Amino acid sequence: MKKLTPKFPQLIHGADYNPEQWLSYPDILKKDIELLKKAHMNSVSVGIFSWAHLEPQEGVYDFDWLEEIINNLYDNGIYTVLATPSGAKPLWMSEKYEEVRRVSKDGVRDKSGDRHNHCYTSPYYRMKVKQMDTKLAERFSHHPGVVLWHLSNEFCGECYCPNCVNAFREWLKEKYQTLDNLNHAWWTHFWSHTYRSWDQINPPFSNGELSIHGLNLDWKRFVTHQTVDFMKVEMDAVKAVNPEIPCTANLMHFYDGLDYNKFDCLDVVSWDNYPQWHRGNNVDIAARSGACHDVMRSVKHQNFLLMENTPSTVNWVPASKLKRPGMHLAASLQAVAHGSESVQYFQFRKSRGSSEKFHGAVVDHVGTDETRVFRDVTEVGKTLEALTDKIYGSEVKAEVAVIYDWENRWAVENAQGPRYGSRSKSWDGKGDGIHYIETVLKHHRALWNKGINVDFVDMEDDISGYKLVIAPMLYMLRNNFGDKIKAFVEGGGKILMTANSGIVDDTDLCFLGGWPGAGLMEVFGIWNESIDGLWDEDENSMVMSENSPFDGSFRCSELCGIIHARGAEVLATYGSDFYEGEPCLTVNKFGQGKAYYLATQADGDFLDKFYDVLVSEAGVKRNLETELPYGVTVHTRTADDGTEFVFVENYSGEEKELMLPNEYLDILDGIRVKSIKLEPYQVKVLS
Ligand code: GLA
Ligand code: ZN
Repeated sequence: MKKLTPKFPQLIHGADYNPEQWLSYPDILKKDIELLKKAHMNSVSVGIFSWAHLEPQEGVYDFDWLEEIINNLYDNGIYTVLATPSGAKPLWMSEKYEEVRRVSKDGVRDKSGDRHNHCYTSPYYRMKVKQMDTKLAERFSHHPGVVLWHLSNEFCGECYCPNCVNAFREWLKEKYQTLDNLNHAWWTHFWSHTYRSWDQINPPFSNGELSIHGLNLDWKRFVTHQTVDFMKVEMDAVKAVNPEIPCTANLMHFYDGLDYNKFDCLDVVSWDNYPQWHRGNNVDIAARSGACHDVMRSVKHQNFLLMENTPSTVNWVPASKLKRPGMHLAASLQAVAHGSESVQYFQFRKSRGSSEKFHGAVVDHVGTDETRVFRDVTEVGKTLEALTDKIYGSEVKAEVAVIYDWENRWAVENAQGPRYGSRSKSWDGKGDGIHYIETVLKHHRALWNKGINVDFVDMEDDISGYKLVIAPMLYMLRNNFGDKIKAFVEGGGKILMTANSGIVDDTDLCFLGGWPGAGLMEVFGIWNESIDGLWDEDENSMVMSENSPFDGSFRCSELCGIIHARGAEVLATYGSDFYEGEPCLTVNKFGQGKAYYLATQADGDFLDKFYDVLVSEAGVKRNLETELPYGVTVHTRTADDGTEFVFVENYSGEEKELMLPNEYLDILDGIRVKSIKLEPYQVKVLS
């Protein structure tokens, strides 16, 4: 059993806590302890934005106030997740040392202020962070109450300052060795953009070079590299003092600015979940939130921590909608079902002023436990206490992997074709565009609907252990991934790949000699001659062939790949247009396995049916072998001794009844059951 926080191996119920805002309110600090205990909270994250209090002047440190807080918490049974304060710089620093302030894509240097806007390359900032983190570790990392390092906060963004530009050039030199290599990889002879010296290379400034897709891609790779490199400065500093305290950083699910799979050097992945519950259909929101948990768990393929979510509302969307009754507990247990060992909040006590004064918090400005939110939070605390002995350390096991690859995303969203337009910004994906994330989520959703555990993998992961692999829009094939797919299918694996796959290589150069490239024409038994990019108002249909496992005709849209079967069996053909009757769904037997190719963007109703076929053919286990009503899904965690914990989750807003395939123990109610009734937004935990 892997213990994410060995000093405190329990389900954590905690929150961001900012006592530095309240140092002149001693009664409030005292009250905080009382309320933390009342809410059944066992941990807080402290120090996230405390630099101005920890080092009020350059070289003058004051940690006494923090020690008093940590001691007091510990004496009252509350553990500390201790943050390094690098997420926001003190004013004395940003005023005196210009280099710590970022330069934007427009080439403009930030003024002082705000947060998450330090330069990751700045030698001064790195030096100061190392100093600060070392001192914090010396003072606190052996404290019995300190269980985890919280490095900085939500690493994000990019900097175009001269230090970063130079570091980018050095990174490129190491990668390409010669300018000839780089010019070829980036195809720079196009539009006469050939580089003759390394100094001519600049990042993609908004008024500069944006047309070289290989450059855009490498810049994003570099930003990830530089951010991780900065994070390692922090990790090394605290570990040098005491290697026993694990390090985490709070990530942001599908955030596009960083390849989070490169953050697997962290001991523990944690993340911040802010779904917009009650905006439209909660079932859609729950499915999306489930995918976010899965992508975060998949960074390290181990359990994770939910570092932040709101107990009630967020204040950074136009309407701050409160969570409806039942939703807070359901959303909390959803995290646990997907492998979280914690439920933590932003924030414990609502700040009195500044931009987050109306963001949800456990304790509101009224300052008491008499609120609905406080009662909801307390209920979560009690529930986690009831579960911790049983489920702590149990893990999510998945037989299906969906490929989600950040580099593929960057490349396909930057490509001007076959549906150029707005990049996939919102997940409901309105407007023309390529919709990579939406495509990934649509396939994840088909599995979610059936109550099947899913891992995400990228092209650096091993796929050999899965029974079924889904490759939605695998535009780029990098890192010899074509060979991995080939070996996987040869060895008996089942794969589904979808439209706009196998088009470019590692540096975004198109494969010559036919799509899908990298040897995959042979594996899939098809040749993709071209892709018809449709307008939003266009559609076509998939007409199932006589030999396909089910009948009917299903809507498809956006992308229609024109493919030729070269050995593959045709399972469906287009229903209209000049390619009516041409294949749009094929299957090829290859080695011991099968490779399916879906050449178009199919709707959910088709996927729901088709995944029944894929799942049963691949022998993938459903978490409950029973038909699930709409809005109900099931996830499992398995303990070392093989005990399975089954989370049955109802996001439908209606009461649902379910016959169970066997008798189960309802852990929270303590009774044996053969069928269950779920209230709206209720989650049951069975074993
Ligand atoms: C992020 C940050 C927090 C806070 C919340 C508000 O997750 O990490 O500091 O700003 O958003 O939702
Ligand atoms: Zn910089």
